[in-house]
Amino acid sequence: MTNINTIALVTGANRGIGRALVEALLARGARRVYAAARDIDSLGVFADPRVVPLALDVTDAAQITAAAARAADVTLVINNAGALEGGTALDADVDSLDRQLQVNVIGPARIAQAFAASLKANQGALANVLSVVGRAPMPGLAFYSVSKAAAASLTAALRGTFAGSGVSVHGIFPGPVDTDMAKDIDMDKTPPAVVAAAILDGIAAGAADIYPDAMAQMVGAGWAADPLAIERQFAA
Ligand SMILES: NC(=O)c1ccc[n+]([C@@H]2O[C@H](COP(=O)([O-])OP(=O)(O)OC[C@H]3O[C@@H](n4cnc5c(N)ncnc54)[C@H](OP(=O)(O)O)[C@@H]3O)[C@@H](O)[C@H]2O)c1
Repeated sequence: MTNINTIALVTGANRGIGRALVEALLARGARRVYAAARDIDSLGVFADPRVVPLALDVTDAAQITAAAARAADVTLVINNAGALEGGTALDADVDSLDRQLQVNVIGPARIAQAFAASLKANQGALANVLSVVGRAPMPGLAFYSVSKAAAASLTAALRGTFAGSGVSVHGIFPGPVDTDMAKDIDMDKTPPAVVAAAILDGIAAGAADIYPDAMAQMVGAGWAADPLAIERQFAA
């Protein structure tokens, strides 16, 4: 999938994991990368004629429709854009749940629907960047965890729906990554370039679920063996 013929679209491409994904796709010989961002001026960082800037706020349904029309040749769509607001289930602003659902779940759902015909026609792949907290919640990131669990369910539902159509669907479950989003998280963090490489390797290998760093792999294995043990570990 990430071979020389890849025509990819990455949301939230201007910084963090999204920017690293664009750089990795280019390094691997992608033919074109639609770099989607809310502010296209922030995409000036890519000095490569294969990068096509695309204005895309994933909460804007009209922009999603326009992006799908513009990028009909796409073979790989990566829903990477994400929003995180902290707080426990008892003290977080409940409206923050709605805001995170809009970016982390509803946007990717609209994007999957908007790009479905092109992905089928091009026999492509859809990848959703989720989180280990989509497997078990971190109590201090309660509503973010809810949104990522919902996005994980959406990913599995899409996988079932696309089955047999020639479109592969990939769920990506990173642990802490060294980006702006995790700047206040006091844990070991994996560089975004390492995570981006592991994501593209996983997609190329046809992995349904991708755990792109050491912490993620531990959580993934633990969750598969005993989900409640991971829940207790995150709560501790
Ligand atoms: N960092 C971690 O530890 C970690 C761990 C697990 C999963 N993840 C997930 O990885 C993905 C990338 O996160 P990151 O760490 O690279 O975070 P980041 O550096 O904070 O970047 C977030 C990206 O999402 C974009 N974005 C936010 N809301 C958007 C919207 N409404 N429409 C379009 N783009 C929007 C941001 O654009 P602006 O520049 O315009 O704000 C930015 O490009 C997210 O889905 C995140 O949940 C991150």
